[in-house]
Amino acid sequence: MTSVDADKQAERGAKSSTGHERDDLPPVIAIDGPSGAGKGAVAQVLANQLNYHLLDSGAVYRAAAIICKKAGADISSESSVLAALDAFQATFHPQGTDGVVVMIGEENITNELRTQQTAEIASQIAVMQPIRAALLDEQRSFRQPPGLIADGRDMGTVVFPDAQLKVFLTASVEERANRRAKQLKEKGIETTMAVLMAEIDARDKRDSTREHAPLKAAHDALFIDSSSLSIEEVVDLIVNAASSE
Ligand code: DC
Repeated sequence: MTSVDADKQAERGAKSSTGHERDDLPPVIAIDGPSGAGKGAVAQVLANQLNYHLLDSGAVYRAAAIICKKAGADISSESSVLAALDAFQATFHPQGTDGVVVMIGEENITNELRTQQTAEIASQIAVMQPIRAALLDEQRSFRQPPGLIADGRDMGTVVFPDAQLKVFLTASVEERANRRAKQLKEKGIETTMAVLMAEIDARDKRDSTREHAPLKAAHDALFIDSSSLSIEEVVDLIVNAASSE
């Protein structure tokens, strides 16, 4: 299981004891789409600009993947994965404009979160409905005043169906592979476009054809293709759309 900071939990407990949170839920801007579409960067800029909280739901799944690895769970078995998630806890510590530090107990797993192996395991356990259900409350707990930017695959369709604004952000496979190649190069990792495109294609297929909460645009989502847009241009489109809601 995962949890946000203890102080946030205390705040949450206080609110739910008054029933306030249920009556007057903070607004959510849901940003869904495939990996590499620029969701993470756009969500971070938006959260800074609007002073909203930020949920990187992929990080919740990735932390669950690392928990499975550390616990030696059999990732093809729902019960084995659930037992691992029951035994260990990941905590999320927002660092302002510098993203989030993720810990399992005393161990900082922030760097491990971004490896290809972690992404693969996350994508595999994310197909299992009981795992998705186990991570649902945790994701919803990030909804705190004054509002939340939620980045993921099913933010507008499943986790926050009442979001004030739903965005489906995508980009061509070529452009997403280009962006990934650039990120990897900065880390000194060389790879080929063919390999990257094949990896992106395989993950897209798994994420969008899975039975439970597949990657798809909510029927009321604003569709944005970021292939030839800068982060700032995408942010402006979203801010304009949110203010006309
Ligand atoms: O966005 P990401 O690459 O960090 O996500 C890693 C994996 O987690 C992704 O392949 C599918 C899964 N995921 C999901 O199923 N639902 C979400 N809302 C976010 C991520």
